[in-house]
This record gives sequence, C-alpha cells and structure tokens, in this order.
Amino acid sequence: MPAVPVWPAVRPLLFRLDPETAHGVAFCALRAAQALPPLDAALRKRFLVDAAPLRRTLFGRELPNPVGLAAGFDKDAVAVRGLAALGFGCVEIGTVTPRPQPGNPRPRLFRFSPAESLQNAMGFNNAGLEAVRGRLRRLQPSPVAIGVNIGKNKATPPEAATADYEILIRAFADLCDYLVVNVSSPNTPGLRDLQNETFLRSLLRTATGITGRPILFKLSPDLDLADAVRLAEVAVDSGASGVVATNTTNDYALLPGAKDFGGLSGRVLREKSFRIFDAVARRLFGRAVLVSVGGIDSGAEAWRRLRAGADLVQVYTALVYQGPGLARRINEELLELMEREGAKGIGEVIGADRTLTP
Ligand SMILES: Cc1cc2nc3c(=O)[nH]c(=O)nc-3n(C[C@H](O)[C@H](O)[C@H](O)COP(=O)(O)O)c2cc1C
Repeated sequence: MPAVPVWPAVRPLLFRLDPETAHGVAFCALRAAQALPPLDAALRKRFLVDAAPLRRTLFGRELPNPVGLAAGFDKDAVAVRGLAALGFGCVEIGTVTPRPQPGNPRPRLFRFSPAESLQNAMGFNNAGLEAVRGRLRRLQPSPVAIGVNIGKNKATPPEAATADYEILIRAFADLCDYLVVNVSSPNTPGLRDLQNETFLRSLLRTATGITGRPILFKLSPDLDLADAVRLAEVAVDSGASGVVATNTTNDYALLPGAKDFGGLSGRVLREKSFRIFDAVARRLFGRAVLVSVGGIDSGAEAWRRLRAGADLVQVYTALVYQGPGLARRINEELLELMEREGAKGIGEVIGADRTLTP
C-alpha cells in the first residue's frame, strides 16, 4: 500500500459509475486485498488505529476501537477480513434472510453528493442463511467482532415472521458476537409494522430461550420519540441486550430532490438519528448496550454520540464519500479529543453527558 493517499484519485472514477456498480468495484478490490496476506497486512498497518485508550470490552470481546461498520455494506459477509483491515472495531453483516432473495429491481441506490447522503431501496438483497453461514464458518476465528443483522424474507407473511427470526438466530448464534433484529428497514413491505410491543415481546422471549448471545434491536428514526423510547425499553425488558439507533429514514422532506421511495442515510439523517438515539440513551444508559448510527462522518460527531451514551458508533454513508481512511480518521480525531479533554480511556467518554443530564 503506497503512503500517498489514493482515494482523491479513485473517488472521481468510482463516482462516474452508478452507485451500485461502484460498490461492486470497491468490493472486488477489498476481496482481492484480503486474499493476499501481505496486502491485507499492509492495509491493517495503514488503517487500523491500535491505541490502548480506544480499546474496550463489548459483547465479551475486546474491540480495538469504538468505530463499527453498519449493516448493509457487507450483506453476505464476503469481505469481513478486508473490512477489519480498514480499521473497523466491529463489522455488522447482513441483513441476512432465511432464503436468498434478489431485492428490488435496479436502480435502487442513489447518491446525493452535495448533501453527502444516499437513498437506497435495496430490499434485503442477500445470499441467504446457508451461504452466509458457510462464509462465517470459514472465517473462524474471526479477526474482528461480528454482528449478524437478521430480517424476514419479503415473501414471509407477518404471522410467520417470528419463525424466520427464530431460524436465523439458531443458525448464527454460535458464529457471531451479537445479533441484531431488524424490523426497521423501509424497503420490505410491512416490515416496520413489526415494530410493536406484542411482536417484540414474543420474539425476544423466544430468542433469549435459544441463545445467550447478545441480541440487539434496530430502531427506525421515523418513530416518534416517545414510541421509540417505549419500544426500546420493552425490547430490553424482554431480554434484548441493547439497541441500534437508527436505520434509514423515509422523511423525504429532509432532502430536496429525493425519490419518494427507499430510505435516506448520511448527513441529512444526522440530527433525526441523534434525537432518537439521545432519547433512548436518556432512558437506557447503564442498562443496555447502545449503538448509535446515522450521519456519523467525523471524530467530532462520534464524540457527541459516545458522550450521549453510545458504546459503539457505526458508519456506512460516510465511507462511500470519504473512502477507506474513514475509520482511521475518526479514531485519530477521537484520540485528539480525548487528549484535549484529559480522558485517559474511551470508557470515561461514554455517557459523560448522561451523568450531567440524568
Ligand atoms: C445501501 C444501504 C443498504 C443498507 N442495508 C441495510 C440492511 O440490510 N440492514 C440494516 O439494518 N441497515 C441497512 N442500512 C442502514 C445502515 O445500516 C445505517 O443504519 C444507515 O445507513 C444510517 O447510517 P449512515 O448515515 O452512516 O449511512 C443500509 C444503508 C444503506 C445506505
């Protein structure tokens, strides 16, 4: 890996391609790199920030830093090793469904570059449980903490949804560090209707009977604040270990020119996502694992989420716009902020605002 930054030269070329093709090209490069041990080692050396103050135990495992990759980037777990080499402290794969499915017709991913935002209507395109489980088996022992984000198939009727989640939990419990129940994607018809107390209670009761692995619940940013907090609390009271807030939004007024389908992510989602996360953290900090995601693109924004109570932050859209140096940049900025504020370890930062505003 050359010491000169290659991203400024590569980005305009990738951005000339349609977004999904560009994603495929970047993925091919990452897969090629992870298959060559010297290149993989060079990437790690360049991008992984390995500094004691950022390390912390979560999900029973020491994470090198609190910057994770959000679900949807590596749906099929094909590039986990390469993504670990890009310096992510944790990689969430999926959403995986029991059976493979193609997702919605293309085009289904759109860039809004001036707003550093994306709109996607992928629809849980993924290789399905069997293929992904095979890949995770071959990856063991994983070089990075892995979350598996799970969802029901589009063809599964709502009354059979619990069975889909149950199959997935059984399949992945021993192959990951945590699971995420996703009922908050805007791109599977009827999925968000499962964001209700009755479904959550019954699913989590079943799930915690199957595995002792942490199970988190991913929230939509389009719930009103009180509903989001109540659902998060019901999930935790029913046995969930924590909450991931948030998924993409279908509040299209946030982005002039947005399509009227799919979910928005990136900068336009930032404040909406933060409001939900902050409200949930006020209620659940100290009682649950809290993961903040939505519009995070800098050390300063990660710092705000950590202080609000996040054990882990996740990124997706900023990786598309800022390229492979993103995790390193955020981690280096976090280290600078910690030094400036006199924090010796990331544990002192997490929830610092919660102690001030109970
Ligand atoms: C193209 C794309 C695909 C996504 N696929 C999934 C998915 O399969 N499951 C999921 O839980 N979230 C998915 N997400 C949502 C992200 O995990 C994340 O919650 C959201 O994009 C907000 O973070 P960001 O602003 O950093 O992108 C997807 C996002 C994008 C942009």
